[in-house]
Amino acid sequence: MKTRAWAKLNLTLDVLGKREDGYHDLCMVMQSVTLHDTLTLEPNEGQGLRVRTNLRFLPTGDKNLAAAAALRFWEALGREPEHLDIEIEKRIPVCAGMAGGSSDAAAVLRALNELAGFPFTPTELAKVGEKVGSDVPYCVLGGTALAEGRGEVLTPLPALPPCWVVACKPDFPISTPELFARIDSCKIRCRPDTAGMLKALKAGSLEEVARRMYNVFEDVLPERYQARVAEIKHVLIQKGALGANMSGTGPTAFGLFDSEEAAREAQAALQEGYRDTSLCRSV
Ligand code: C5P
Repeated sequence: MKTRAWAKLNLTLDVLGKREDGYHDLCMVMQSVTLHDTLTLEPNEGQGLRVRTNLRFLPTGDKNLAAAAALRFWEALGREPEHLDIEIEKRIPVCAGMAGGSSDAAAVLRALNELAGFPFTPTELAKVGEKVGSDVPYCVLGGTALAEGRGEVLTPLPALPPCWVVACKPDFPISTPELFARIDSCKIRCRPDTAGMLKALKAGSLEEVARRMYNVFEDVLPERYQARVAEIKHVLIQKGALGANMSGTGPTAFGLFDSEEAAREAQAALQEGYRDTSLCRSV
């Protein structure tokens, strides 16, 4: 079976506080986009569960979230693990704030659920995904959604008005736990207007949505990284984006465009300096 795993972007990201379990309470407006990995699931002859990707540095065994998802799926079903090969063709940049690993895990859950004749509803499947990672439940459902709690409390929202999205990942790594630690040690001065964002989505106004995009993590990036993300956002805006934002804990920045031509120009301009630049649409 072949299936797709869509990337996610954060239209907003707010960190409300640290919880006793070590996680943080979040409030995020999420959007899936057509940039995707392709997964192939195929039974093998007694070789157990194997994961392979086209990127050599990614884990291949149980440490890969796709394998973890398969194991959780069979566990939830009360079945023994099966002999299965999962091959992942990665296109979503890794460690980019676009939930690539979580999205692969979600795609495995959806595919195994379909192959098993849909024993779980989408909501039940999202619940299975909670044990794999905080972003997995959202990735199971996809679309435009409000994610609260650890990320697992989901409310579907009116779809983002049709637009073009240019996403660009600068070439430096961000450690998610480190960025959460940084945000704990400072006072958040500026937060997204989440209520305004929900209103803008309800009104179907791309301009209003784009204007309200905000991510609190951008303010706590190390200074040299902050400057690089700001530079990408500047190019996006200069080329005609209605708004630009960083996704997740970064470092990917993206812009929303109402003109395909402008989006293509932005993509071309950014591609000169950044290999991981893609043009996509919302899903
Ligand atoms: O849930 P997941 O394994 O994807 O989370 C990765 C890391 O991100 C956690 O170990 C934690 O440091 C941080 N995190 C958090 N609060 C959340 C989600 C993630 O602190 N709601």
